[in-house]
Amino acid sequence: MLRSSFLRRGYNKVAGIFGRAEAKKQDFPVLEGHPAAQESAEVALESRVTVQDNVKKVMKEFRIYRWNPDRPDSKPFLQSYHVDLSECGPMVLDALQKIKAENDSSLSYRRSCREGICGSCAMNIGGTNTVACLKPIDGDTSKPTIIIPLPHMFVIKDLVVDLTNFYQQYKSIEPWLKTNMVPKDGREYRQSPADRKKLDGLYECILCACCTTSCPSYWWNPEEYLGPAALLHAYRWICDR
Ligand code: SF4
Ligand code: FES
Repeated sequence: MLRSSFLRRGYNKVAGIFGRAEAKKQDFPVLEGHPAAQESAEVALESRVTVQDNVKKVMKEFRIYRWNPDRPDSKPFLQSYHVDLSECGPMVLDALQKIKAENDSSLSYRRSCREGICGSCAMNIGGTNTVACLKPIDGDTSKPTIIIPLPHMFVIKDLVVDLTNFYQQYKSIEPWLKTNMVPKDGREYRQSPADRKKLDGLYECILCACCTTSCPSYWWNPEEYLGPAALLHAYRWICDR
């Protein structure tokens, strides 16, 4: 402990010369009266500062589709943003969050769960429809990552598309249980393991619309053709008969 305190005093002296912020005891008021914890917290802070100093910035360009309904006469365009990947989470949604929080709060996109469950962050990233929260950032900084809305959909703003037709089509297949049978015990419908297994590959759908909006048949006939997601759900409700 003595040696550590000696080193700390030396560090603070040097840090003072170079103008670096000094870790002071009052930085950790909650640890008052706990000298060992105070010392550990100071060392942790010092270590963090050292790591930050040694990490080089890794700048990555993102070109993002922009369109504002309040300026209907302006054409859509790709706007460039540069993000320091050394201070960003690993997924494209992390980059979008960072851009929105630190660069441009007007950037619009949907997101909720950030773990591939809700399907709301679906968009086209680098030419592929995917959910941004599960799409790792391409670490190749020599080329930009281009992000546009789901293709062939009406854009509401920036990366937000109108999914009304998509949800109507889902609703049209009446995705709920229909039966005339009363449960045997009068309380619940039992499902055999074999019937449950038939749903593997079907129940996982999160209705992100990535498949439907990448389907050329859907692009040309979105009024008549239900698209793969709605058809998958229809099948999901009839295949375990
Ligand atoms: S089936 Fe289509 S809508 Fe469902 S999760 Fe997969 S890509 Fe998304
Ligand atoms: S935020 Fe929910 S799937 Fe991406």
